[in-house]
Amino acid sequence: MAQKLWDKGIDVNQEVEKFTIGRDQEMDIFLAPYDVMGSLAHITMLQSIGLLTKEELDALSDELKSIYVLAKSGWIQIEEGVEDIHSQVELMLTRRLGDVGKKIHSGRSRNDQVLVDLKLFTRAELQKLVENISKLFEVLISQSNRYKEVLMPGYTHLQVAMPSSFGLWFGAYAESLVDDLQMLLAAFKVTNRNPLGSAAGYGASFPLNRQMTTDLLGFESMNFNVVYAQMGRGKMERTVASAMASVAATLSKLAFDACMYTSQNFGFIKLPAQYTTGSSIMPHKKNPDVFELTRAKCNKIQAIQQQIILITNNLPSGYYRDLQIIKEVFIPTFAELNDCITMVTRMLSEVEINEHILDDSRYDAIFSVEKVNELVLQGVPFRDAYKQVGLEIEAGNFKPNKELNHTHEGSIGNLCNDKIESLYNKVLAEFNFEKINSAIEKLVKKD
Ligand code: ARG
Repeated sequence: MAQKLWDKGIDVNQEVEKFTIGRDQEMDIFLAPYDVMGSLAHITMLQSIGLLTKEELDALSDELKSIYVLAKSGWIQIEEGVEDIHSQVELMLTRRLGDVGKKIHSGRSRNDQVLVDLKLFTRAELQKLVENISKLFEVLISQSNRYKEVLMPGYTHLQVAMPSSFGLWFGAYAESLVDDLQMLLAAFKVTNRNPLGSAAGYGASFPLNRQMTTDLLGFESMNFNVVYAQMGRGKMERTVASAMASVAATLSKLAFDACMYTSQNFGFIKLPAQYTTGSSIMPHKKNPDVFELTRAKCNKIQAIQQQIILITNNLPSGYYRDLQIIKEVFIPTFAELNDCITMVTRMLSEVEINEHILDDSRYDAIFSVEKVNELVLQGVPFRDAYKQVGLEIEAGNFKPNKELNHTHEGSIGNLCNDKIESLYNKVLAEFNFEKINSAIEKLVKKD
């Protein structure tokens, strides 16, 4: 039978127990270090309001800090028969310290405990994600600058349309990440509020100092209303999943372009052979599986928010066990998205570019608008110029002038990558990770 914090001497049916624990023993391991952080802040606060003595606080802090080191290095396991990480940490404390270990749960519930764990976990994961996105952003900007002179066809309806460039192509995805980062920042702000002290969702009759735990954990503020704090379970995850979906959508579009451009029928880019995979029957194949898997994984990631919506949609306010299932949908998404970002960053930094795409006469017609505009500048009305060039193309005697003169902001000749970079950096600075990191360092540091 599982070790349960709520044990009252009644034997629970084994199958019911197994069913209700579900995948918590696996998922809660991700929350372990954050569970310890939450407890460290909580007991510091409990001592400040007289619910623990100084000696008790010191003993508990010491042990919790050792448990934190274990949790951080991945050495904590939820033992056979232990329900979740909250029970495991309390069990470890009582084993080492006896009865004082049982005092830490005053004024809290597993409901606000798991809420704060998830907020702290998500905040840390968002930091890793943002750092990873920044590396991809840098590669995109530097490739855009490097290949700004290299032209390629631009398409509408997948029909050749207008001249484009690798500068534009790479830079477009860099700018897409600026907006994705903005979404992540909004999600980060929703995450960075402290739910601890809401207990089961209705507060407690102790004079809890919630501002103190808010500061100790480096949160920007608290979720004030205790009922709303509990309503944040699922809302925070959905908001973050929607921001991750934004990043994923950027990557899946990029991945599709890359798959298409490596096809022999396009031949715009080539991946180094060691980054491709082969076929068991066709000896010539060098397939872009990394981009294909990125496309599929990132499409899948875009559906995570819908799963969370479906799990939470018809729940009234308050805690329900339904919420537990969000963890197995939400938690693994960070690693999956990060893997995709890392692989795409690597591929794009070493991709080979075809610098002579437009030498092929099949693309000549993409210069038609240049010719029309040239005539307009000579005083021919646009519609007449359009017709004249159209007839030339139909008659097969259109001669493209491949000298481009695009100078406005964001065009081939004026990419504004410096502007895109400064937009990115402005959003990035708003995360203010340093404040959080120094609060957490202080909280878990051994004296
Ligand atoms: N494993 C539970 C979850 O993730 C922890 C909270 C349990 N609370 C409760 N009232 N049964 O939601």
